[in-house]
Amino acid sequence: MRLEDAILKIADSGEVGRYVKKGVGVLAGGLMDIAFPFLIPTQDVVEGPGSSADVVKSLKRAGGKKALIITDKTLHELGILDTMLKGMDAENFPYAIYDGVEPNPSIENVEAAFDMYKKEACDCLVGFGGGSSMDACKAVSCRVAKPEQTIKQMGRLMGYFPISFSGANSKVPYIVAVPTTAGTGAESTVAAVISDHVEDRKYTVTDISMRPRTVFLDASLATGLPPRVTAVTAIDAVSHCTEGFISYGRNPRGDEWAIKGVRLVKDNIEAVMADGKDLTARQNLCTAAYCGGQSLNMETTGYIHPFCHKIGAKYNLVHGRCIGAVMPIILEDYGEVVAPRLAKLAVATGIADPNASESEQAKQYIQWIRDFDAKYGIDPYIPEIRDEDLDEIADSIMVEIFVYPNKKVYTRDEIKHLLKVIRGDYANA
Ligand SMILES: [Fe+2]
Repeated sequence: MRLEDAILKIADSGEVGRYVKKGVGVLAGGLMDIAFPFLIPTQDVVEGPGSSADVVKSLKRAGGKKALIITDKTLHELGILDTMLKGMDAENFPYAIYDGVEPNPSIENVEAAFDMYKKEACDCLVGFGGGSSMDACKAVSCRVAKPEQTIKQMGRLMGYFPISFSGANSKVPYIVAVPTTAGTGAESTVAAVISDHVEDRKYTVTDISMRPRTVFLDASLATGLPPRVTAVTAIDAVSHCTEGFISYGRNPRGDEWAIKGVRLVKDNIEAVMADGKDLTARQNLCTAAYCGGQSLNMETTGYIHPFCHKIGAKYNLVHGRCIGAVMPIILEDYGEVVAPRLAKLAVATGIADPNASESEQAKQYIQWIRDFDAKYGIDPYIPEIRDEDLDEIADSIMVEIFVYPNKKVYTRDEIKHLLKVIRGDYANA
């Protein structure tokens, strides 16, 4: 029996999975709280508009001789890299640019960038762009460290920590991350999500070794973002802060990041949507996204992301658009199981009335997300989901969720029902 088939069998039994998750989740959450600073490679964070000009200093300090910059064509053509490139040119620091990253970065993207890294004799990496470019960059670092293993092999369940467990940590090149959107938190996380277009699925490669060593949060790079992109990335940051906070994996340090992240989105999104060039508010959204990444690292995730990973990969949809639709539906379905924690987050971030009941506060948090969607044009449903795909999507969700410490456990039939809710089948019921 394949490992994934065995997981599906256990996962579909419901209760067993819940008790395992509680034990493992509480243990892992506690461990992360105590050991995070020792387990995860430290990361320098440089904040401020224009700070990407100093990327070169970071690369030189690390002993880099030639960088491969991994980005997408639009950013390259719009000149968003210029501040960073001018800094490199001024120091005569050599670089090559791979600008072929797609919105959902593919195995082909990673392989093409890896080939360029070798051909150009690079020794360090810069992931420049949204989560796609940074994830592609992190995945390339894994290929550099372990060229004999494919992304598909590294992204399977047994491929967790494929670099660290093989002792190839020292072969991972120095990585700088420069996010140009404020949402994914990929600059902070220890995972990379890569699409396999042949099998219509996404692989999550997880390894602490590929965590970028220096991050530049430069709000001036995001001032030209269309409002829709700003909105869908911000709601993604909110989801990263929310999912772990309500899981068995929660812990005090992770909670602090989560509360800070949601609060920063809540307090700054309106200003940025009104004026995309508001650098103070933009910088705060960049910080919010980073907080979301930290929250993900420390408290992991729940069902919202597995739903969005599979739906996004299957129909080639933007991640944040999926998140905006899926998050309120899943949180509502979790119901009383998560209400006390959701209420706590809602009050701590100023979203809910502190005098209301826990159940009411949780509802106010969900309503805040729905209002966010409506106000900033994020679709509340995903009508692209097809009947004939329900089983395949459900299986993929059940495999991915297996390792997450979520409090509610769904059977295959319950997931299929939720997929229909997400599609909008009961919208007017
Ligand atoms: Fe996300």
